Amino acid sequence: MPVIGIIGGSGLYAVEELRDAEWRDADTPWGRPSDALLHGTLDGTRMVFLPRHGRGHVHTPSTVPYRANVAAMKAAGVTHLVSVSATGSFREDMAPGDFVIVDQFIDRTFARDKTFFGPGLVAHVSVAHPVCPALSAACSQAATQAGATVHDGGTYLAMEGPQFSTLAESRLYRDWGCDVIGMTNMPEAKLAREAELHYASVAMVTDYDSWHPDHGSVQVSDVIRTLQCNVGRAAAMVAALPGLVRDAPCAEGCDHALNHAVMTAPDARD
Ligand code: ADE
Repeated sequence: MPVIGIIGGSGLYAVEELRDAEWRDADTPWGRPSDALLHGTLDGTRMVFLPRHGRGHVHTPSTVPYRANVAAMKAAGVTHLVSVSATGSFREDMAPGDFVIVDQFIDRTFARDKTFFGPGLVAHVSVAHPVCPALSAACSQAATQAGATVHDGGTYLAMEGPQFSTLAESRLYRDWGCDVIGMTNMPEAKLAREAELHYASVAMVTDYDSWHPDHGSVQVSDVIRTLQCNVGRAAAMVAALPGLVRDAPCAEGCDHALNHAVMTAPDARD
């Protein structure tokens, strides 16, 4: 049976639909996650929810304990990890309110711990295809069932923040072919691959960043207003996942990503 983990971004701080729900504190070798984990079941499937910024939104994108979050999910038995997050859009047709099932990333973050490995145990996983295709398809179907306008595939520019982009940066990322921009999916996606989790990212578009001539620069109040309109659809998407996520091998081999990744010789490992 799959165990579905949800990391909820801005606006998604709990999953009301969970049965027998219980917040449980967690600790990991990489410290404490952003908050306690909400354990429960939905349609007979075990689910674990974690608010990425903590309840009350206390972690900045740079201080989110990404390693502890992914490690806590893994230790809780999660096999399939779904990220839900707010993003700006670089495309006219990816409008505020739309959901984008992200399939690529450009990682421009620079002030975060990005790996579980290090001196004594060196590993290089492939992130050429950073999301699980089967889990992404399930998210797309779930979001469609929830009534969202869904775009399958999109490149997510991960920026450090916490400030939004300058106009020149926004235009540059658009020229690079990026579709959406956010501050939190990296290094989360890379760490999920190292932890051999199936990972998918659902981006909820809240604004046009700052490039759009007909829209002003992005404001938190606009982001929150769009999120509030969408949080019901995000919750409905999460609730539809148990019927759609299968515990089957995926084309990307997410669950055995480390098989050929470790460089350190067995007798040299710490
Ligand atoms: N999150 C929501 N909108 C965003 C934007 N325009 N840039 C970065 N992160 C965001």
